[in-house]
Amino acid sequence: EKAGYDHFMLKEIHEQPKAYRDTMGSRLDPSGKKVVLNEVGMTPQQIKAIRHVHIVACGTAYHAGLVGKSVIEKLARIPVETDVASEYRYRAPIITPETLVIVVSQSGETADTLAALREAKRCGARVLAITNVVGSSVAREADDVITTWAGPEIAVASTKAYTSQLIAFYLLGLYLAQTLGSQDDAYIAEVIAELKELPEKVERILAQSEAIKNVAEQIATHDNLFFIGRGLDYAVALEGSLKLKEISYIHSEAYAAGELKHGTLALIEEGIPVIALATQEDLFEKTVSNIKEVTARGAHVFGIHSEGHYELAKAVDEVFAIPATLPLLTPALSVVPLQLLSYYASLARGNDVDKPRNLAKSVTVE
Ligand code: F6R
Repeated sequence: EKAGYDHFMLKEIHEQPKAYRDTMGSRLDPSGKKVVLNEVGMTPQQIKAIRHVHIVACGTAYHAGLVGKSVIEKLARIPVETDVASEYRYRAPIITPETLVIVVSQSGETADTLAALREAKRCGARVLAITNVVGSSVAREADDVITTWAGPEIAVASTKAYTSQLIAFYLLGLYLAQTLGSQDDAYIAEVIAELKELPEKVERILAQSEAIKNVAEQIATHDNLFFIGRGLDYAVALEGSLKLKEISYIHSEAYAAGELKHGTLALIEEGIPVIALATQEDLFEKTVSNIKEVTARGAHVFGIHSEGHYELAKAVDEVFAIPATLPLLTPALSVVPLQLLSYYASLARGNDVDKPRNLAKSVTVE
């Protein structure tokens, strides 16, 4: 059932190109010019009436929601807040009939996410669910459902569900943009064309797993490390850090690279590993300055950049290049080396990769 892989997690990491293709599937119009989301029942009038979007989820799904915030704000130009469900539901959030609440849940059964959905509906908001399980509680109770076609996810650590959630956000962002007229047709067509290339680009990353494994084996000997990045790279850093903690039990923190000097830099000492994401074109130079702040204090930096920015190699100890794509789409690529890093670090430590201690696949208690 693991199809020749040692663990479900590794199998699911490798299933991502298919999960991307299946989630995009018939939702991309053959013309290549628009997204078709028949499962979203909102009329153009209802979409035009949306004043704010709240994205609510837990854990890895929350991290997908952080990317979703950038995607919807950039494409649809509607203000978005992303919150963890266990905070959102208790903070008396300002929800009105002009709020679109998006809940994200792989299982569709997470107690706090379901409670947030119910609270949103009680306040009169429309609720759109992004979920991987057809017929789940979240899917049944939401007004609209975008199903991620990642297939069953067995490993406790979420991989293909997360990346399929990113694809769902790209599709939704484009759908809102084409309805609102917030982006011109040529840009929409460009994003769609780049989306279609992602599966093959993930395959190219997977083919370089051995390089990531070598870094993972070094990291596995440490007890503390940092992930840094700016913008979307910061959102991916949070997910990379969670994944590593969850299955390798190595403590790590994800930091917005520009925030380091406001306190955390005090923790950087000789030899500490820092994983630095520098895939965002417009933030590249700024991130490199932050990398220099940690290398100057002896950190051992593993940098991830987009093809083209080979000069990063001069600023760090080791580099990994992801294929070039639009800056908005990089999370769907840059998270893959981080998933592999966690997998191989967990393996190197002799942990039970698929069933990490203290955790359950579906969190149905509050
Ligand atoms: C981490 C992980 C969890 C889940 C979280 C939400 O790898 O899997 O953080 O993402 O428990 O679960 P769902 O998406 O089922 O609501």
